[in-house]
Amino acid sequence: MMRGSSPDQSKSGNEVVMDALSLLHERVSIANLVEPGPTPEQMDALFKAALRAPDHGALRPWRFLVIEGEARQKLGKLFRQVGQQLNPDAPEAFLEKCEKMPLRAPCLVAVVVRYQEHPKVPQQEQLLSAGAAAQNILLAAYAQGLGAIWRTGWVCDEPLLGESMGLAANERLVGFLYIGSRGPITPPLRPLATSDFVSNWS
Ligand SMILES: Cc1cc2nc3c(=O)[nH]c(=O)nc-3n(C[C@H](O)[C@H](O)[C@H](O)COP(=O)(O)O)c2cc1C
Repeated sequence: MMRGSSPDQSKSGNEVVMDALSLLHERVSIANLVEPGPTPEQMDALFKAALRAPDHGALRPWRFLVIEGEARQKLGKLFRQVGQQLNPDAPEAFLEKCEKMPLRAPCLVAVVVRYQEHPKVPQQEQLLSAGAAAQNILLAAYAQGLGAIWRTGWVCDEPLLGESMGLAANERLVGFLYIGSRGPITPPLRPLATSDFVSNWS
């Protein structure tokens, strides 16, 4: 395995291309995403990582919707409809922006939390587990040389969007993971000091 700041692009498929700590220390969100999207093998590796999310009670309180190709246009129309229903006076420029949002990457993964009744696992823990699954997807994307960013915007909280996308009454959108090849604009790592966030408790 290679140690370094970027995955070895010469390797392909779902082979691990960064060592684990480099990946955890260096992953950044990448908004500038271009074609091609992930291969089927890369997608499989993303979802295998998602299923390793910590999960109290083994409830598997998540599922994932892949939105690629023309489905992105369809989702854009839904974003537009929801935007219009929430704000009937919205200017056309805003509605167009809504419609184009899913076109910002070749592939989107909608992360859905599936809330279940459980005496020991409250909804908050299930939501955290879905968030961990989302983060595992981001990490697996970065490890494979892809770029990815988690976006929610105003749309995720809108029950109207969830209904239109076929979510059940116990399900909510946790976010859309935009995934693709890295474009030319890669953001720098923003350095943070662990000492600003960590202290001993006694
Ligand atoms: C739950 C959640 C929702 C987010 N929603 C958005 C969003 O709608 N738009 C956006 O630009 N960034 C959003 N972000 C932030 C980006 O995903 C990303 O974390 C941020 O740009 C910082 O980049 P970094 O991950 O490289 O530190 C969201 C992050 C989280 C955890």
